Amino acid sequence: MDEQRKPISRSDFPADFAWGTATASYQIEGAFNEDGRGLSIWDTFSHTPGKTRDGDTGDVADDHYHRYKEDIALMRELGFNSYRFSIAWPRILPEGRGKVNSKGLDFYERLVDTLLANGIEPYATLYHWDLPQALQDKGGWKERFTPQAFEEYADAVSRRLGDRVKGWITLNEPAVSAFVGHVEGRHAPGEHSFQAGIRATHHLLLAHGLAMPVLRSNNRRKDAEFGITLSTTFAEPGDDSQQAYEAAVMVDNFNNRIFMDPLFKGRYPSAISNLIDQYLPVQGGDLEKIAAPLDFIGINYYFRTLALAVEDQQALKYKTRKVKGAQYTEMDWEVEPEGFYNLLKMVNTDYKPAKILITENGAAFPDRLEEGQGQPAVHDPDRTNYLKGHFEAALKALKEGAPIRGYFVWSFLDNFEWAQGYSKRFGIVYVDYPTQRRIVKDSGRWYQTFLRG
Ligand code: FCB
Repeated sequence: MDEQRKPISRSDFPADFAWGTATASYQIEGAFNEDGRGLSIWDTFSHTPGKTRDGDTGDVADDHYHRYKEDIALMRELGFNSYRFSIAWPRILPEGRGKVNSKGLDFYERLVDTLLANGIEPYATLYHWDLPQALQDKGGWKERFTPQAFEEYADAVSRRLGDRVKGWITLNEPAVSAFVGHVEGRHAPGEHSFQAGIRATHHLLLAHGLAMPVLRSNNRRKDAEFGITLSTTFAEPGDDSQQAYEAAVMVDNFNNRIFMDPLFKGRYPSAISNLIDQYLPVQGGDLEKIAAPLDFIGINYYFRTLALAVEDQQALKYKTRKVKGAQYTEMDWEVEPEGFYNLLKMVNTDYKPAKILITENGAAFPDRLEEGQGQPAVHDPDRTNYLKGHFEAALKALKEGAPIRGYFVWSFLDNFEWAQGYSKRFGIVYVDYPTQRRIVKDSGRWYQTFLRG
Protein backbone atom coordinates (compact mmCIF):
# COMPACT_ATOMS: atom_id res chain seq x y z
CA MET A 1 0.00 0.00 0.00
CA ASP A 2 1.21 3.47 -0.82
CA GLU A 3 2.11 5.43 2.22
CA GLN A 4 -0.35 8.30 2.53
CA ARG A 5 1.33 11.67 2.77
CA LYS A 6 0.39 13.02 6.15
CA PRO A 7 -0.26 16.77 6.13
CA ILE A 8 2.30 18.76 8.06
CA SER A 9 1.21 19.64 11.58
CA ARG A 10 2.40 21.67 14.52
CA SER A 11 3.18 18.52 16.50
CA ASP A 12 5.91 17.64 13.96
CA PHE A 13 7.90 20.57 15.40
CA PRO A 14 9.45 20.85 18.89
CA ALA A 15 7.00 21.74 21.66
CA ASP A 16 8.84 24.92 22.64
CA PHE A 17 8.83 26.26 19.06
CA ALA A 18 8.19 30.01 18.57
CA TRP A 19 5.30 30.52 16.13
CA GLY A 20 4.19 33.90 14.94
CA THR A 21 4.52 36.61 12.37
CA ALA A 22 6.92 39.49 11.77
CA THR A 23 6.53 43.18 11.01
CA ALA A 24 8.72 46.29 10.99
CA SER A 25 8.14 49.71 12.51
CA TYR A 26 8.22 51.91 9.41
CA GLN A 27 6.10 49.46 7.45
CA ILE A 28 3.15 49.39 9.86
CA GLU A 29 3.23 52.07 12.56
CA GLY A 30 2.36 55.33 10.85
CA ALA A 31 2.20 58.20 13.40
CA PHE A 32 5.39 59.45 11.80
CA ASN A 33 5.38 62.77 13.64
CA GLU A 34 3.77 61.88 16.94
CA ASP A 35 5.04 61.85 20.51
CA GLY A 36 8.39 63.35 19.62
CA ARG A 37 9.44 60.90 16.90
CA GLY A 38 12.33 62.22 14.82
CA LEU A 39 12.62 61.62 11.09
CA SER A 40 14.29 58.58 9.60
CA ILE A 41 15.97 58.03 6.26
CA TRP A 42 12.77 56.32 5.09
CA ASP A 43 10.71 59.45 5.78
CA THR A 44 13.12 61.42 3.66
CA PHE A 45 13.36 58.81 0.93
CA SER A 46 9.64 58.09 0.62
CA HIS A 47 8.89 61.81 0.49
CA THR A 48 11.37 62.30 -2.34
CA PRO A 49 9.46 62.22 -5.66
CA GLY A 50 10.14 59.15 -7.77
CA LYS A 51 11.61 56.97 -5.03
CA THR A 52 8.58 54.85 -4.14
CA ARG A 53 5.79 53.46 -6.25
CA ASP A 54 2.94 56.00 -6.54
CA GLY A 55 4.81 58.22 -4.08
CA ASP A 56 3.64 56.04 -1.18
CA THR A 57 5.01 56.84 2.28
CA GLY A 58 4.80 55.30 5.75
CA ASP A 59 3.14 58.41 7.24
CA VAL A 60 0.01 56.44 8.14
CA ALA A 61 0.77 52.88 7.01
CA ASP A 62 -1.38 50.46 9.07
CA ASP A 63 -1.84 53.01 11.84
CA HIS A 64 -0.55 50.30 14.15
CA TYR A 65 0.79 52.93 16.53
CA HIS A 66 -2.83 53.60 17.51
CA ARG A 67 -4.29 50.17 16.80
CA TYR A 68 -1.72 47.91 18.42
CA LYS A 69 -4.21 46.62 21.02
CA GLU A 70 -6.69 45.35 18.43
CA ASP A 71 -3.81 43.97 16.38
CA ILE A 72 -2.47 42.02 19.32
CA ALA A 73 -5.97 40.76 20.14
CA LEU A 74 -6.11 39.39 16.60
CA MET A 75 -2.71 37.70 17.03
CA ARG A 76 -4.04 36.02 20.10
CA GLU A 77 -7.16 34.88 18.27
CA LEU A 78 -4.97 33.38 15.55
CA GLY A 79 -3.01 31.45 18.17
CA PHE A 80 0.51 32.86 17.86
CA ASN A 81 2.84 32.45 20.84
CA SER A 82 5.45 34.93 19.59
CA TYR A 83 5.67 38.15 17.61
CA ARG A 84 8.62 39.79 15.91
CA PHE A 85 8.37 43.58 15.61
CA SER A 86 10.94 46.33 15.27
CA ILE A 87 11.64 49.41 17.32
CA ALA A 88 11.95 52.75 15.54
CA TRP A 89 15.28 54.29 16.53
CA PRO A 90 13.99 57.84 15.79
CA ARG A 91 11.17 57.38 18.31
CA ILE A 92 13.73 56.64 21.04
CA LEU A 93 16.48 59.06 19.98
CA PRO A 94 14.94 61.64 17.64
CA GLU A 95 18.40 63.03 16.85
CA GLY A 96 20.01 59.60 16.68
CA ARG A 97 22.11 60.22 19.79
CA GLY A 98 21.83 62.20 22.98
CA LYS A 99 18.48 62.91 24.54
CA VAL A 100 16.19 59.91 24.99
CA ASN A 101 12.52 60.49 24.18
CA SER A 102 10.70 58.65 26.93
CA LYS A 103 7.39 58.78 25.04
CA GLY A 104 8.97 56.58 22.39
CA LEU A 105 10.02 54.05 25.00
CA ASP A 106 6.55 54.26 26.55
CA PHE A 107 4.98 53.11 23.29
CA TYR A 108 7.14 49.99 23.06
CA GLU A 109 6.60 49.31 26.74
CA ARG A 110 2.83 49.35 26.16
CA LEU A 111 3.27 47.12 23.14
CA VAL A 112 5.44 44.61 25.00
CA ASP A 113 3.17 44.56 28.05
CA THR A 114 0.12 44.00 25.87
CA LEU A 115 1.86 41.13 24.09
CA LEU A 116 2.83 39.50 27.38
CA ALA A 117 -0.65 39.95 28.79
CA ASN A 118 -1.92 38.04 25.74
CA GLY A 119 0.56 35.21 26.14
CA ILE A 120 2.73 36.31 23.19
CA GLU A 121 6.52 36.46 23.52
CA PRO A 122 8.08 39.69 22.20
CA TYR A 123 10.98 39.39 19.73
CA ALA A 124 12.29 42.91 19.19
CA THR A 125 14.46 43.97 16.27
CA LEU A 126 16.42 47.13 17.01
CA TYR A 127 17.16 48.16 13.46
CA HIS A 128 14.86 47.45 10.55
CA TRP A 129 16.22 50.17 8.25
CA ASP A 130 14.82 53.36 9.80
CA LEU A 131 18.06 55.17 10.62
CA PRO A 132 17.54 58.59 12.22
CA GLN A 133 17.98 61.17 9.48
CA ALA A 134 20.20 63.23 11.79
CA LEU A 135 22.79 60.43 11.67
CA GLN A 136 22.49 60.10 7.92
CA ASP A 137 23.21 63.81 7.64
CA LYS A 138 26.62 63.08 9.16
CA GLY A 139 27.34 60.13 6.87
CA GLY A 140 25.16 57.37 8.37
CA TRP A 141 26.44 53.80 8.08
CA LYS A 142 29.47 54.92 6.10
CA GLU A 143 30.92 56.35 9.30
CA ARG A 144 32.08 54.76 12.52
CA PHE A 145 30.07 56.98 14.84
CA THR A 146 26.87 55.27 13.67
CA PRO A 147 27.74 51.91 15.28
CA GLN A 148 28.72 53.87 18.39
CA ALA A 149 25.34 55.62 18.34
CA PHE A 150 23.66 52.25 17.87
CA GLU A 151 25.34 50.97 21.02
CA GLU A 152 23.84 53.89 22.98
CA TYR A 153 20.44 53.28 21.42
CA ALA A 154 20.60 49.57 22.32
CA ASP A 155 21.46 50.59 25.87
CA ALA A 156 18.49 52.97 26.17
CA VAL A 157 16.01 50.39 24.89
CA SER A 158 17.30 47.43 26.88
CA ARG A 159 17.47 49.38 30.12
CA ARG A 160 13.74 49.92 29.82
CA LEU A 161 12.68 46.58 28.30
CA GLY A 162 15.43 44.20 29.39
CA ASP A 163 13.18 42.59 31.97
CA ARG A 164 10.46 41.70 29.46
CA VAL A 165 11.68 41.07 25.92
CA LYS A 166 12.35 37.42 25.15
CA GLY A 167 14.23 37.76 21.86
CA TRP A 168 16.60 40.55 20.86
CA ILE A 169 17.59 40.95 17.23
CA THR A 170 20.19 43.63 16.65
CA LEU A 171 19.77 44.16 12.90
CA ASN A 172 17.43 43.13 10.14
CA GLU A 173 19.10 42.18 6.85
CA PRO A 174 22.25 44.27 6.88
CA ALA A 175 22.88 43.14 3.27
CA VAL A 176 19.82 45.04 2.12
CA SER A 177 20.76 48.14 4.14
CA ALA A 178 24.28 48.05 2.77
CA PHE A 179 23.75 47.09 -0.86
CA VAL A 180 20.20 48.03 -1.81
CA GLY A 181 20.53 51.25 0.20
CA HIS A 182 24.09 52.27 -0.73
CA VAL A 183 25.02 50.53 -3.98
CA GLU A 184 21.81 49.96 -5.96
CA GLY A 185 20.09 52.99 -4.43
CA ARG A 186 16.59 51.47 -4.60
CA HIS A 187 16.24 51.92 -0.82
CA ALA A 188 17.08 54.71 1.58
CA PRO A 189 19.47 56.43 1.74
CA GLY A 190 19.60 55.90 -2.04
CA GLU A 191 23.33 55.99 -2.74
CA HIS A 192 25.17 54.50 -5.69
CA SER A 193 28.62 53.63 -4.47
CA PHE A 194 30.18 50.21 -4.03
CA GLN A 195 32.68 51.62 -1.57
CA ALA A 196 29.82 53.10 0.52
CA GLY A 197 28.16 49.67 0.53
CA ILE A 198 31.26 47.95 1.86
CA ARG A 199 31.86 50.60 4.51
CA ALA A 200 28.21 50.24 5.56
CA THR A 201 28.60 46.45 5.69
CA HIS A 202 31.39 46.66 8.22
CA HIS A 203 29.80 49.39 10.30
CA LEU A 204 26.51 47.47 10.46
CA LEU A 205 28.35 44.37 11.66
CA LEU A 206 30.27 46.47 14.14
CA ALA A 207 27.00 47.96 15.42
CA HIS A 208 25.81 44.42 16.06
CA GLY A 209 29.08 43.54 17.80
CA LEU A 210 28.96 46.61 20.04
CA ALA A 211 25.30 46.16 20.97
CA MET A 212 25.38 42.47 21.91
CA PRO A 213 27.24 42.80 25.24
CA VAL A 214 25.15 45.84 26.17
CA LEU A 215 21.91 43.94 25.52
CA ARG A 216 23.17 40.97 27.48
CA SER A 217 24.24 43.04 30.45
CA ASN A 218 20.95 44.97 30.62
CA ASN A 219 18.96 41.74 30.35
CA ARG A 220 16.96 40.68 33.38
CA ARG A 221 15.03 37.75 31.84
CA LYS A 222 16.59 34.34 32.41
CA ASP A 223 15.42 32.86 29.13
CA ALA A 224 16.20 35.83 26.89
CA GLU A 225 18.10 35.19 23.66
CA PHE A 226 20.21 37.40 21.42
CA GLY A 227 21.01 37.31 17.75
CA ILE A 228 20.89 38.98 14.35
CA THR A 229 18.70 38.50 11.28
CA LEU A 230 20.17 38.04 7.80
CA SER A 231 18.61 37.98 4.36
CA THR A 232 19.60 34.81 2.55
CA THR A 233 19.24 33.17 -0.78
CA PHE A 234 20.33 29.79 -2.09
CA ALA A 235 22.44 30.56 -5.13
CA GLU A 236 22.84 28.09 -7.99
CA PRO A 237 24.38 28.51 -11.44
CA GLY A 238 21.71 29.35 -14.03
CA ASP A 239 23.41 27.14 -16.65
CA ASP A 240 26.44 24.89 -17.11
CA SER A 241 28.90 27.64 -17.95
CA GLN A 242 31.90 28.57 -15.84
CA GLN A 243 30.59 32.18 -15.84
CA ALA A 244 27.28 31.12 -14.32
CA TYR A 245 29.14 29.14 -11.69
CA GLU A 246 31.20 32.20 -10.82
CA ALA A 247 28.09 34.38 -10.73
CA ALA A 248 26.49 31.94 -8.25
CA VAL A 249 29.58 32.01 -6.05
CA MET A 250 29.45 35.79 -6.06
CA VAL A 251 25.75 35.90 -5.19
CA ASP A 252 26.32 33.47 -2.33
CA ASN A 253 29.24 35.53 -1.04
CA PHE A 254 27.56 38.93 -1.22
CA ASN A 255 24.24 37.70 0.22
CA ASN A 256 25.18 35.10 2.77
CA ARG A 257 28.87 34.80 3.52
CA ILE A 258 29.91 38.44 3.75
CA PHE A 259 27.84 38.50 6.96
CA MET A 260 27.99 34.90 8.14
CA ASP A 261 31.78 34.55 7.86
CA PRO A 262 32.54 37.52 10.15
CA LEU A 263 29.76 36.54 12.58
CA PHE A 264 30.75 32.87 12.89
CA LYS A 265 34.41 32.82 11.85
CA GLY A 266 35.69 36.28 12.62
CA ARG A 267 36.85 37.04 9.07
CA TYR A 268 35.50 38.27 5.76
CA PRO A 269 35.18 35.66 2.98
CA SER A 270 38.40 35.19 1.05
CA ALA A 271 36.52 34.48 -2.20
CA ILE A 272 35.74 38.18 -2.57
CA SER A 273 38.69 39.72 -0.77
CA ASN A 274 40.00 41.19 -4.06
CA LEU A 275 36.75 43.17 -4.32
CA ILE A 276 36.13 44.24 -0.74
CA ASP A 277 39.32 44.36 1.32
CA GLN A 278 40.44 47.74 0.01
CA TYR A 279 37.21 49.36 1.22
CA LEU A 280 36.64 47.56 4.54
CA PRO A 281 37.20 50.04 7.41
CA VAL A 282 38.27 47.34 9.88
CA GLN A 283 40.06 48.44 13.03
CA GLY A 284 41.83 46.29 15.61
CA GLY A 285 39.40 44.32 17.77
CA ASP A 286 36.37 44.79 15.50
CA LEU A 287 36.22 41.23 14.23
CA GLU A 288 36.48 39.76 17.73
CA LYS A 289 33.48 41.83 18.77
CA ILE A 290 31.51 40.86 15.68
CA ALA A 291 32.23 37.16 16.20
CA ALA A 292 31.08 36.95 19.82
CA PRO A 293 28.75 33.94 20.23
CA LEU A 294 25.13 34.29 19.08
CA ASP A 295 22.25 32.52 20.79
CA PHE A 296 20.56 32.26 17.41
CA ILE A 297 20.88 33.27 13.82
CA GLY A 298 17.72 34.76 12.30
CA ILE A 299 17.14 33.61 8.72
CA ASN A 300 14.93 35.54 6.31
CA TYR A 301 14.29 33.51 3.20
CA TYR A 302 12.09 34.19 0.18
CA PHE A 303 13.63 32.67 -2.97
CA ARG A 304 16.59 30.92 -4.51
CA THR A 305 18.73 32.61 -7.13
CA LEU A 306 19.63 30.99 -10.44
CA ALA A 307 22.56 33.18 -11.31
CA LEU A 308 23.86 34.07 -14.75
CA ALA A 309 26.80 36.30 -15.50
CA VAL A 310 26.46 39.65 -17.20
CA GLU A 311 28.97 41.11 -19.59
CA ASP A 312 31.52 43.23 -17.76
CA GLN A 313 31.21 41.03 -14.67
CA GLN A 314 31.66 42.95 -11.43
CA ALA A 315 30.62 42.71 -7.81
CA LEU A 316 26.86 42.54 -7.23
CA LYS A 317 26.04 42.47 -10.95
CA TYR A 318 24.33 39.34 -12.30
CA LYS A 319 21.17 38.21 -14.05
CA THR A 320 18.71 35.59 -12.87
CA ARG A 321 17.38 32.80 -15.01
CA LYS A 322 13.65 32.32 -15.04
CA VAL A 323 12.34 28.77 -14.97
CA LYS A 324 9.71 27.80 -17.53
CA GLY A 325 6.53 26.62 -15.87
CA ALA A 326 7.62 27.70 -12.39
CA GLN A 327 5.38 29.85 -10.23
CA TYR A 328 6.50 33.40 -9.41
CA THR A 329 5.11 35.68 -6.70
CA GLU A 330 4.01 39.24 -7.35
CA MET A 331 7.58 40.31 -6.50
CA ASP A 332 8.70 38.08 -9.37
CA TRP A 333 10.34 35.73 -6.88
CA GLU A 334 10.38 32.06 -7.78
CA VAL A 335 8.33 29.74 -5.55
CA GLU A 336 10.73 26.87 -4.91
CA PRO A 337 10.81 25.57 -1.31
CA GLU A 338 13.67 23.15 -1.99
CA GLY A 339 16.03 26.14 -2.05
CA PHE A 340 14.97 26.94 1.51
CA TYR A 341 15.85 23.41 2.62
CA ASN A 342 19.20 23.66 0.80
CA LEU A 343 19.97 27.02 2.38
CA LEU A 344 19.15 25.78 5.89
CA LYS A 345 21.32 22.70 5.37
CA MET A 346 24.15 24.86 4.11
CA VAL A 347 23.95 27.28 7.05
CA ASN A 348 23.91 24.40 9.49
CA THR A 349 26.81 22.58 7.85
CA ASP A 350 29.05 25.57 7.22
CA TYR A 351 28.38 27.64 10.36
CA LYS A 352 26.88 25.31 13.00
CA PRO A 353 24.66 27.92 14.67
CA ALA A 354 23.45 27.15 18.20
CA LYS A 355 19.92 27.84 17.04
CA ILE A 356 18.09 29.02 13.94
CA LEU A 357 14.97 31.17 13.96
CA ILE A 358 13.17 31.69 10.68
CA THR A 359 12.56 35.39 11.25
CA GLU A 360 10.82 36.01 7.89
CA ASN A 361 9.26 33.94 5.15
CA GLY A 362 6.19 34.67 3.10
CA ALA A 363 4.87 35.84 -0.25
CA ALA A 364 3.07 38.66 -2.05
CA PHE A 365 0.21 37.74 -4.34
CA PRO A 366 -2.47 39.98 -5.88
CA ASP A 367 -5.21 39.64 -3.25
CA ARG A 368 -8.80 40.63 -3.78
CA LEU A 369 -11.16 41.58 -0.99
CA GLU A 370 -14.55 39.97 -1.57
CA GLU A 371 -17.36 41.70 0.24
CA GLY A 372 -20.50 39.96 -1.10
CA GLN A 373 -23.33 39.25 1.30
CA GLY A 374 -21.58 37.28 3.95
CA GLN A 375 -18.32 37.99 5.75
CA PRO A 376 -15.64 39.87 3.83
CA ALA A 377 -13.04 37.37 2.64
CA VAL A 378 -9.69 37.10 0.87
CA HIS A 379 -9.08 33.78 -0.84
CA ASP A 380 -5.32 33.38 -1.23
CA PRO A 381 -4.56 29.72 -1.92
CA ASP A 382 -1.19 30.64 -3.47
CA ARG A 383 0.02 32.14 -0.21
CA THR A 384 -1.21 29.16 1.80
CA ASN A 385 0.62 26.80 -0.57
CA TYR A 386 3.75 28.89 -0.36
CA LEU A 387 3.68 28.71 3.43
CA LYS A 388 2.92 24.98 3.52
CA GLY A 389 5.76 24.25 1.13
CA HIS A 390 8.22 26.28 3.15
CA PHE A 391 7.08 24.86 6.50
CA GLU A 392 7.72 21.42 5.00
CA ALA A 393 11.14 22.41 3.73
CA ALA A 394 12.07 23.75 7.17
CA LEU A 395 10.78 20.60 8.84
CA LYS A 396 12.90 18.44 6.55
CA ALA A 397 16.01 20.44 7.46
CA LEU A 398 15.04 20.30 11.14
CA LYS A 399 14.71 16.51 11.03
CA GLU A 400 18.16 16.35 9.48
CA GLY A 401 19.67 18.28 12.36
CA ALA A 402 19.26 22.01 11.64
CA PRO A 403 18.39 23.48 15.08
CA ILE A 404 15.33 25.43 13.92
CA ARG A 405 13.30 26.68 16.88
CA GLY A 406 10.99 29.37 15.55
CA TYR A 407 9.10 30.58 12.49
CA PHE A 408 7.80 34.08 11.89
CA VAL A 409 5.69 34.48 8.79
CA TRP A 410 6.18 37.71 6.88
CA SER A 411 3.89 39.40 7.45
CA PHE A 412 1.12 39.79 10.00
CA LEU A 413 -0.50 42.67 8.08
CA ASP A 414 -0.28 43.97 4.55
CA ASN A 415 2.04 46.95 4.83
CA PHE A 416 4.35 49.52 3.24
CA GLU A 417 6.60 47.33 1.08
CA TRP A 418 9.46 49.86 0.84
CA ALA A 419 10.07 51.07 -2.72
CA GLN A 420 6.98 49.11 -3.84
CA GLY A 421 4.75 51.07 -1.49
CA TYR A 422 1.35 49.52 -0.77
CA SER A 423 1.19 47.74 -4.12
CA LYS A 424 2.54 44.45 -2.73
CA ARG A 425 0.57 42.62 -0.07
CA PHE A 426 2.49 40.14 2.10
CA GLY A 427 0.02 39.94 5.02
CA ILE A 428 -1.87 36.92 6.22
CA VAL A 429 -4.25 39.63 7.35
CA TYR A 430 -5.60 41.98 4.69
CA VAL A 431 -5.60 45.70 5.40
CA ASP A 432 -8.27 47.81 3.71
CA TYR A 433 -6.21 51.01 3.76
CA PRO A 434 -9.02 53.58 3.37
CA THR A 435 -10.85 52.21 6.44
CA GLN A 436 -7.93 50.44 8.20
CA ARG A 437 -10.16 47.38 8.55
CA ARG A 438 -8.31 44.10 9.11
CA ILE A 439 -9.65 40.99 7.36
CA VAL A 440 -8.00 37.66 8.05
CA LYS A 441 -7.08 36.03 4.73
CA ASP A 442 -7.63 32.32 4.13
CA SER A 443 -3.89 31.84 4.65
CA GLY A 444 -4.23 33.37 8.12
CA ARG A 445 -7.04 30.93 8.89
CA TRP A 446 -4.91 28.10 7.56
CA TYR A 447 -2.08 29.15 9.91
CA GLN A 448 -4.54 29.36 12.80
CA THR A 449 -5.81 25.84 12.09
CA PHE A 450 -2.25 24.54 11.73
CA LEU A 451 -1.39 25.99 15.14
CA ARG A 452 -4.42 24.40 16.78
CA GLY A 453 -2.89 21.07 15.80
C1 FCB B 1 12.53 41.64 3.61
C2 FCB B 1 12.35 42.76 4.62
C3 FCB B 1 10.92 43.00 5.02
C4 FCB B 1 9.97 42.85 3.85
C5 FCB B 1 10.21 41.56 3.12
C6 FCB B 1 9.28 41.32 1.97
O1 FCB B 1 13.68 41.87 2.87
O2 FCB B 1 13.10 42.49 5.77
O3 FCB B 1 10.84 44.26 5.63
O4 FCB B 1 10.05 43.95 3.04
O5 FCB B 1 11.53 41.51 2.65
